[in-house]
Amino acid sequence: MLKSFLLLSAAILVALTPTHALAGGSQDAAAAPQVAQNATNPVKPTAESQAKAKSIYQIDCAMCHGDNGDGKTDMAKSMGVVIPDFTDPKVLSGVPDGDLFNIIRNGKGEKMPPEASGRAGDTVVWNLIIYLRGMSKH
Ligand code: HEC
Repeated sequence: MLKSFLLLSAAILVALTPTHALAGGSQDAAAAPQVAQNATNPVKPTAESQAKAKSIYQIDCAMCHGDNGDGKTDMAKSMGVVIPDFTDPKVLSGVPDGDLFNIIRNGKGEKMPPEASGRAGDTVVWNLIIYLRGMSKH
């Protein structure tokens, strides 16, 4: 009896851990220090780092922004918002990397959620920015 109780507790602990880690991550994001607007992207993209950025994009961003970044998604419709079209070169060209970093890390407005550091570290966010800028190039 005691043994199965211990096993059950262990199972519950394991099951709960990722949730806790995520919750901690989003608290971090709310308090995340902002980078300067004129911060330069410190990342030199590699095929591997861009593949990682793409997979994070597909999991955490594409449902709203679309696989190709045009923002024409069912999610945008159901939220009743127009989502910026990253395939249009004019959309991101005037926004400095530092601003994009802060928008991704801290969210924007009521509908753009923050990307917690527990989900994507700084290097991944800088790679995401390169990935987003690439969307208007093909
Ligand atoms: C729940 C839907 C949703 C998700 C998920 C989401 N976004 Fe957004 N995003 C938005 C909306 C809505 C806006 C427009 C916000 C505004 O201007 O008020 C936006 C705006 C942006 C902008 C600003 C563009 C500009 O022209 O200022 C960037 C950059 C961005 N999102 C990147 C991302 C990235 C990267 C991810 C994934 C890590 C992501 N978003 C996840 C809904 C979402």
